[in-house]
Amino acid sequence: MDNLLKLLKSRRSVRLFKDKNIPEEELREIIDAARFAPTARNIQPWEFVVITDKNILSEIAGFGQNASFISQAAACIAVFSTETNYYLEDGCAATCNILLAATALGIGSCWIAGDKKTYCPKVNSLLYAPTGLKLVSLIALGYPQEENSFKPVQKKGLNDLLHWERF
Ligand SMILES: Cc1cc2nc3c(=O)[nH]c(=O)nc-3n(C[C@H](O)[C@H](O)[C@H](O)COP(=O)(O)O)c2cc1C
Repeated sequence: MDNLLKLLKSRRSVRLFKDKNIPEEELREIIDAARFAPTARNIQPWEFVVITDKNILSEIAGFGQNASFISQAAACIAVFSTETNYYLEDGCAATCNILLAATALGIGSCWIAGDKKTYCPKVNSLLYAPTGLKLVSLIALGYPQEENSFKPVQKKGLNDLLHWERF
């Protein structure tokens, strides 16, 4: 449990990656963790596409705002959900599992917005997504470069957020 709490607090968005592939087994492990996420009414509306092809990574990097680093990633996972009432919450829960599983395996990650972005149709088309699937997120993955792999963003303090019983 201690280790899990440490893991949760140690995850940070990583946008600088080594030029090193992630073994397929580890990518499978990450997606396996995603499918255990909580999901409204147990619908499990998610589908995952793991992209390692450099040409596809570069193409996706070119679509986005703030996503150019995808071209340097070893892999990118596209999280899709069938359009149910809670597709976004479910897809986000799966996305969090992916980020944490990657952290546990020593793999850096960064969540890149999918849902609501104007490039969603382009990603769907590039990945041949079946009709009715919504892109929830893209996750860049790779082994962190030793230095400057992440910006240590300031987190709000516990006492600024926590309220007991009422505000
Ligand atoms: C819904 C969502 C969308 C995000 N989109 C992007 C993005 O498009 N590009 C990017 O570099 N980071 C993106 N991020 C990562 C955030 O910038 C990052 O989580 C935040 O700055 C906190 O830093 P940390 O992840 O290191 O704790 C996104 C995060 C979330 C939750």
